[in-house]
Amino acid sequence: MNLLKTSGYSDRAIEYYENHLNVGSTEKPDAHSIFTGPCGDTMEIFLKISDVITNAKFQAIGCAGSFASGSALCEMINGKTLMDCAKLDENDVLNHLGAMPQQKVHCAKLAILTLKKAIEQYKKQE
Ligand code: FES
Repeated sequence: MNLLKTSGYSDRAIEYYENHLNVGSTEKPDAHSIFTGPCGDTMEIFLKISDVITNAKFQAIGCAGSFASGSALCEMINGKTLMDCAKLDENDVLNHLGAMPQQKVHCAKLAILTLKKAIEQYKKQE
């Protein structure tokens, strides 16, 4: 029995977590941020941008929920403009994943807040 499944993670969330989808970094990212959530877990995001996001990667020191959320977020934002990305919230990440345990909803928020910080920093450079 898969412990993640019995805990409430969807098959997609488990697949993303187990395959480490979009985990990594990019050389000379156009936008980058590190954010630590109230739970103490930290996410780092790396974005390559040319009109739209062409490459999104992340790293995390965190739980399975943070990894599933980071993977989902990077999948969702590839090919999107920063304006579209700024409209995303944790519910979009949770909808993309399908299901996460209730106590892991904040992990999706960690991914969103890390993205928003990267977008803010990118706009300051312009
Ligand atoms: Fe902190 Fe999941 S428990 S991000």
